[in-house]
Parts: sequence; C-alpha cells; structure tokens
Amino acid sequence: MSGMKRIQSPRSMQELGLEWRRQGICVGLVPTMGYWHEGHLSLMRWAREHCDLLVASIFVNPTQFGPGEDLENYPSDIERDSALAAECGVDVLFTPYKAEMYLPGHGTWVNVPELTKNLCGRSRPGHFQGVATVVCKLFNLVQPTFAAFGEKDWQQVAVIRKMTRELDIPVRVEGRPIVREADGLAMSSRNVYLTAEERAVAPHIQKGLCLLEGMVRAGERDCGALRKAVRDYYAAWIPSGVLDYLELVDPETIETVDHVHSDFLAAVALRLGKARLIDNKRINLEK
Ligand code: PAF
Repeated sequence: MSGMKRIQSPRSMQELGLEWRRQGICVGLVPTMGYWHEGHLSLMRWAREHCDLLVASIFVNPTQFGPGEDLENYPSDIERDSALAAECGVDVLFTPYKAEMYLPGHGTWVNVPELTKNLCGRSRPGHFQGVATVVCKLFNLVQPTFAAFGEKDWQQVAVIRKMTRELDIPVRVEGRPIVREADGLAMSSRNVYLTAEERAVAPHIQKGLCLLEGMVRAGERDCGALRKAVRDYYAAWIPSGVLDYLELVDPETIETVDHVHSDFLAAVALRLGKARLIDNKRINLEK
C-alpha cells in the first residue's frame, strides 16, 4: 500500500479487512484511544516489523468510561497522531465515526467476569465490558492477524486474550512491555493531567513496586507486610496521592494471592490530582 489511508466508515474498514484476509495478508492492529505517546509508538514500530499491513485505530470508546470519568476531557490531537502514524509506517489509520460504532439501541455486550472482579474491574464497574465489546468489534472490522497491546494495562490484556480464545476469534493477542519515562513513570495519555508538582512525585509509583520486588527477593513472603511497606512508602513520598488499590495477584487469573508465589504481579492504581494512574510489575522469582 502506498501512502497512509484514513478510514472512518466501519463498513469500509471491514470490506478491506475481509479482502486482506481472503488474500492471506498478515495484518497487524494497534488499537488505541489516541493522544499517542512513546508507548503507543513502540507498539506500532514492533507491529510494523511483524506484519505486511499495519492498521492503527483511534477511538475514544464511550462505553468503557463510567459516570464522572474523563470521557469528555480525554486528550486528543488527531493531526499530531496522524503525522506520527505516517512516520511509524501505518498503512491505515482507522478512526471510526462514533455514531456508526454504536448504532441507536446497541445492546450486545462482551463480558469476562472471572477476570474483572479485581483491580480496575472492581474500581471501574462496566469498564471491561466496554473494552471487551469495542475490541471484539475492532477485531471484526479490521480482521487483523494479530493485535498489540501495552502491558501497563495488564488486566486489559488478560481480558482480551481470554475473550479472543473463548469466542474463537482468529486474532493473536500480543502483550508488549511497559514503556517508561526516563524517571520510571509509566507512559500514559493521562499523564498530561498532572501538575508539575504531581509529575515530580509520580515516579514514586514505580519505585514503590521496585521496593516490593526488593523485599520479595530478600525473602519477604508475607503479602500483608509487603503491601504495608509500599503503602507506607506512598504515604511518605506521594502524600497527595490516594491509593485506589495495591494488590498482589496471579498474572493470569488476576486473583489476589495471599502468599507470594514464584510468579506474581504487583499492581497499583493511584489517584493523583485529576489523574488516575496505574502501573504494575511482574515478579518471577525463577528469573
Ligand atoms: O487501551 C486502550 O487504549 C483502550 O482500552 C482500547 C484497548 C483501545 C479499547 O478502547
């Protein structure tokens, strides 16, 4: 394909996707809500190397936002994102019309209840139903061979993987490592909400997880003690932050573990001013 094409009609996207599938073309998809940062770009660069045709989608999906969340203010800069897409070698930028993604009376939802009782599923009821539904629709429209997602949203990747497997959707789900700022803050479109003071303390979110890893590697196995140490660390270093959750979970089932296994995930969500920031660290004691 020469030059980047922008498609806004879901039906036109699907016609093209089906044609690519018929021709056996390997299509990579990077689904996003726009306002790209280096995390998104690294997904695109990685996908670019593994497919014949690369599609990036931008859709601020209303059904994954709860009442009072930031749907109305979600940052957006489509001109900038389009230029970045072209630089990353995106072939098709899919920016579907909202009214055509959800027709009046839309009432079909995808739910993955086992994986969404904990962490963000608990704090943001309905969020993962919106995510699973829109990703299922994007998969049906784009017909990709694989789709790449960032592991900052670890629970999201687990949900999408399970949905894809259990609904027999012929798409490979690829989770890619978290991309961080030089000071360790996980990249997020929502970092733009931080004031200078909040931005200065935000890297302590990851540092708390590193402290936890250090304690585990030094032999601490008591989850209560580990969580208390990190909570105390956050209280000292991010006093204006409000901890939403700090959990030690099984990386696949997302269930809380009561004693440290050889392989687990430490996951955190913390509100800092207008931003709700999430981060996680997989700790594998065999590695
Ligand atoms: O991670 C995101 O940006 C969104 O949740 C996604 C996967 C694009 C679905 O709207």
